[in-house]
Amino acid sequence: MPLYEDVADRLQDLVETGTFRTGQKLPSVRGLHRDWGVSKSTVLEAYRILEDRGVIEVRPQSGHYVKAHAQTPEPTTGVGPGLDVSDLMVRVTMRAGPEGFVGLGCGLPDADQLPLDQLDRLMARVARERQGHSYQMGTGHPRLRQALARRAMAAGCTLGPDDLVVTTGCQEALDLSFRVLCRRGDRVAVGSPTYVGLLEILRAQGIEAVEIPSSPRTGMDVDALAQVLPTVQAVAVAPNFNNPQGSLMTDRAKEQLVRICAAADVPLVEDEAYGDLGFDGSRPRSLKSWDITGIVLSCGTLSKTVSPGLRLGWVAGGRYTGQLARLKMVSSLACATVPQLTAAEFLLNGGYERHLRRLRRAYRDHVGRMSATVAASFPLGTGISRPRGGQFVWLQLPHGDALELFERAWDEGISVAPGPMFSATGGHRRCIRLNATAWTPEAQRAVVRVGALASGA
Ligand SMILES: Cc1ncc(COP(=O)(O)O)c(C=O)c1O
Repeated sequence: MPLYEDVADRLQDLVETGTFRTGQKLPSVRGLHRDWGVSKSTVLEAYRILEDRGVIEVRPQSGHYVKAHAQTPEPTTGVGPGLDVSDLMVRVTMRAGPEGFVGLGCGLPDADQLPLDQLDRLMARVARERQGHSYQMGTGHPRLRQALARRAMAAGCTLGPDDLVVTTGCQEALDLSFRVLCRRGDRVAVGSPTYVGLLEILRAQGIEAVEIPSSPRTGMDVDALAQVLPTVQAVAVAPNFNNPQGSLMTDRAKEQLVRICAAADVPLVEDEAYGDLGFDGSRPRSLKSWDITGIVLSCGTLSKTVSPGLRLGWVAGGRYTGQLARLKMVSSLACATVPQLTAAEFLLNGGYERHLRRLRRAYRDHVGRMSATVAASFPLGTGISRPRGGQFVWLQLPHGDALELFERAWDEGISVAPGPMFSATGGHRRCIRLNATAWTPEAQRAVVRVGALASGA
């Protein structure tokens, strides 16, 4: 292939993958000559080809620009019998797809409900005072750990700042936990359904997920877990408002869970991502609050209540805290300091409680409205979860297939999260998860439309 065609193809790839978007200027002839080591005439010829292909337009005296409609549509890899959970996760979690896309499938909080003005002000202050330019090796900034330790009191825990390791979101807290606890080939008991990101971590680490039934109301079946406990190296559970069901374990079940794991000396990783989002305003207890022997690794995050962009989570690692801190340091030295200090100020002095009260009220309202719309538009016999906290509505259809519904909704510009995404074995094929954080007229129309699709329209 002539070199100029190769250059043209590479440039077209950059346009199709969105490195350069509609209306944006492509590199200058001189710039490409320098960066890619090709002659200026080759670059000019490549640009001429792209003009012929309708990918770019030339603006005299200015340069080469991406033309409208040069971008290819979103990829729509089929999700069939060879279910690809990673692919599903990527597609579902993208909220802002093509214009007009309604992302009922994603897990993002509603940005309109987050305390962004306060965070901006606090971050500006941290930056102005030049506080954010040193490493906080391993465990994270002491001020944030102090704020988190105080906050953990609401979940019944007694923690010191040194019991905590700050992480890049709850995702890293979970990842580090299993890297400390497990080896390739180990088995971990997980709720079913469970958070797709957890399944991805286990898969990436070569760990087998052993699924334990989880009820939409009361979460993991502890008796069923007890049966498999001797055959697993760890347990992963989200006791409070789990993703995707919004279930809440009773205190009795939580206590029993910690007791049997302690007796079997099996570490217990709890995911507390949604624990602060109880609709009645109370904060349910963490498993950590019953942990006397140090076997509970309690992972949390500010992503769901403060801002996912801060990328701040933590793990209270019990007897594993030292190993977690070392591993955190080995993998990334530390989390960024400016977000840590901003978050610490917000938690200690910024009215986090007041903000939480508003957020819980809004989500309770949105979940209620979404549930009512589902009840009115989905086929008779659809099961609705009625969660007492969190941000999701979990549905079980009376008939049909969630993956097919996912594809049909996707074709109409709506994402839903199909049940098999939350299972290591492709289970929950009649279930879908909807995100209720933002209840807008578009979201309502989309729910009605998915209900019609589920009814066979
Ligand atoms: C249950 C659960 N755990 C962990 C995470 C990861 O959150 P982050 O890494 O943003 O803190 C999420 C995000 O959706 C989640 O839903």
